[in-house]
Amino acid sequence: MQVIRLLAVVFGVVVATAAEKNSFNDGWRFLTGPAEGAETTAFDDSGWREVRVPHDWAIEGPFDVKYNARSGGLPIHGTGWYRKRFEIPEDQRGKRVAIEFDGAMYDAHVWVNGHFAGHRPFGYVGFEFDVTRYLNTDGGNVIAVRLQPEDLSSRWYPGAGLYRNVWIRYRQETHVSHWGTTVTTPTVAANSAEVCARTRLEHHGDEPIALRLETRVLDPSGKEVGSASSPVEVQPEETATVTHTMEISEPQRWDLETPRLYTVVSTVLTGGVAVDRTETPFGIRTITYKAGEGFYLNGRHVRLNGVCMHHDLGALGAAVNRRATERQLEIMKEMGVNAIRTSHNPPSPEQLELCDRLGLLVQVEAFDCWQMAKVPNGYNKFFDAWHERDLRDMIRRDRNHPSVIMWSIGNEILEQSKKDGWKLARHLHRICKDEDPTRLTSAGFNYYPASVTNGLAAEVDIPGFNYKPLAYAEVRRQHPEWHVLGSETSSCVSSRGVYHLPIEKYERADDNQVTSYDLIGPVWAYPPDIEFMALEGSPAVIGEFVWTGFDYLGEPTPYGGRDNSTDGYWNDDWPSRSSYFGTVDLCGFPKDRYFLYQSQWRDVREFPMVHVLPHWNWEGSGHERIPVYVYTNASEAELFLNGESLGRKRKGRDKPPLKVDFKNWTAGDYETPYRLRWEVPFQPGELKVVAFEDGKAVAEDVRRTAGPAAAISLVADRETIAGDGSDLSFVTVAVTDKDGVPCPTADDLIRFSVEGSGEIVAVDNGNAASTEPFQASQRKAFSGMALVILRATKNSPGRIKLTATGEGLRPASIVVTSN
Ligand code: GAL
Repeated sequence: MQVIRLLAVVFGVVVATAAEKNSFNDGWRFLTGPAEGAETTAFDDSGWREVRVPHDWAIEGPFDVKYNARSGGLPIHGTGWYRKRFEIPEDQRGKRVAIEFDGAMYDAHVWVNGHFAGHRPFGYVGFEFDVTRYLNTDGGNVIAVRLQPEDLSSRWYPGAGLYRNVWIRYRQETHVSHWGTTVTTPTVAANSAEVCARTRLEHHGDEPIALRLETRVLDPSGKEVGSASSPVEVQPEETATVTHTMEISEPQRWDLETPRLYTVVSTVLTGGVAVDRTETPFGIRTITYKAGEGFYLNGRHVRLNGVCMHHDLGALGAAVNRRATERQLEIMKEMGVNAIRTSHNPPSPEQLELCDRLGLLVQVEAFDCWQMAKVPNGYNKFFDAWHERDLRDMIRRDRNHPSVIMWSIGNEILEQSKKDGWKLARHLHRICKDEDPTRLTSAGFNYYPASVTNGLAAEVDIPGFNYKPLAYAEVRRQHPEWHVLGSETSSCVSSRGVYHLPIEKYERADDNQVTSYDLIGPVWAYPPDIEFMALEGSPAVIGEFVWTGFDYLGEPTPYGGRDNSTDGYWNDDWPSRSSYFGTVDLCGFPKDRYFLYQSQWRDVREFPMVHVLPHWNWEGSGHERIPVYVYTNASEAELFLNGESLGRKRKGRDKPPLKVDFKNWTAGDYETPYRLRWEVPFQPGELKVVAFEDGKAVAEDVRRTAGPAAAISLVADRETIAGDGSDLSFVTVAVTDKDGVPCPTADDLIRFSVEGSGEIVAVDNGNAASTEPFQASQRKAFSGMALVILRATKNSPGRIKLTATGEGLRPASIVVTSN
């Protein structure tokens, strides 16, 4: 009876208490600082703070000039302890138990009931420890995790803590190994596809065991479309690998517009009873790289319109959140992005799951350095001992994602400058091939020609060049057989809504902001237009990854460190503490550059667009003639000031050739084939642009002179959210005049309050030089805007009412419902 009670029926086979993967996020206690004996069971942690992971302790701040602005001006270093009591439920006792961390920042040491369970230095890699032998099966258990991230360990904000999800896994003694199923599609044709599932089984019993592995393939609707089954014997404490190849008819392709996902279900049976069952999502698609032509997805040429993304989620810090990640990707897709580079580290599992679902291509990157240090306490310290394990694990975890199209073995690794740097490149490339022969390898090289002459570029399948648009043609001429990628491009900097006149050259301004005319960048950088031009001239280049899609915490170039500075702290221009590189700011609000890329990447027939800059509030500024730029994907645009035409211009025609002088950009009259320019004598009122395609008006955009700030407006990105303790609503806050016209320079302090079943998780305004805390119920507007991130209380459905007030401003409220 007892046994039967534990049985369930899945797919018509009997399953003995199937393997389970459960969240292990709740109920942790946390302390920063040394805590002697905290690894022992008896340690008294009752005074520690209760936290739920994913948790990033550093994002709580405070921002302080004593921290390193290069990594965000936040307390990313120190010792962090997490402890949690847990019981093994009765029906799981006697099983193998593993704790899985999707990532821990960093240098994790883990103890269970005082026994040392394992150590993992790399903060971005996922890992699990089997803790079965340390468990008290009939009583409580204690897990303790110590993290020791160091100062000067990163060129950007890494976050600190158990910042990704933690899981507990229960498995029978015979089961599919962690990341044990690898699915490939060796042949894909219009009417059929071969699906090959390679499954690694492991057995922890005392006697050899006779098993049967059943593999089923489910189509996107969940219907079984293929299956295979075979007997296998596994010796005690050994593994066995089974390969099943199945033919699928009428495969539904995973593609950018139709990201269809299949599932492999692997069931392990002994004596007809299923003892383990795993599900592995995968996609059926072909990826082909053709030298001299570029990249093909399902036989269709696709240029990578990509962006580099650091892993932080702005005001939420590095703490992984599915909705925040999804929102980032949605904003990027809207811009026309079809590819993401996970610069410069293994991503969260959520990011790849979402790219699979949203139809985005991904370059997964492993490292920002190898043996040669970029920062005093970087990963190079761990490289020799850990790189192979880290690289293999990254690929084992991520190789079933159809979105992943290439592996990068490193970004701007300094070994490019070494005559024998190629040796390490070859070694890492071979590890990738060993784990995944189906995808090509890449790397982002910034030294040119050293990366080529020292032989590194030839060691990867796709040499990526960072900031070398003028080298594409030459590289292609010298190596016509190479697949070339613009692995990192442009690095233009700007602050949303800020316009300095006259437009400055690349230099620091008193307000710690950068003009948003999209013309400025550090010495290695250049305006997006130059990359567009280079890619047009080299159609075989696979595409580009712009630095960056989103602003990110840390690396506040041009403020902070002098160019190429080796001063680790970058605090010379405090309070600049986050990047100005994004096409959107830290809140996800588009900067002008967002629309420049959109004009290049979105098709006018499907998504006609036009954008005009700057704002139109110049009264009393002393500036009489205002440079006005227009970005459109249509062929012509006409500008009107207060209803009067200032002329129609045609894109691309008769434009002067682009001057490429990276060090001394001519920031003034910069009309290019990709942007239109007018010089407009300022008059308050309405500046309107109308875009024309084939002579027909297809889009328009308007800037109006706003009166004094008088009101607040609130708009939620989603008005209904899940009450699962994780889902979020992002509320855009705008300061307007009495008629609702946005005030583009308003910086009023806005106070927020919430009633009902929700809370404010964070606030922001996209100002890269603000030291206001993110966890707060007030924020100054920046260029007229701010952001409130709301979360619903877990399991308490209802209304969440957000109210915003400010001195002299008409208040506003909005209701978000949680279900
Ligand atoms: C690149 C580097 C990026 C970022 C960028 C800023 O050289 O790979 O991580 O630092 O410069 O322009």
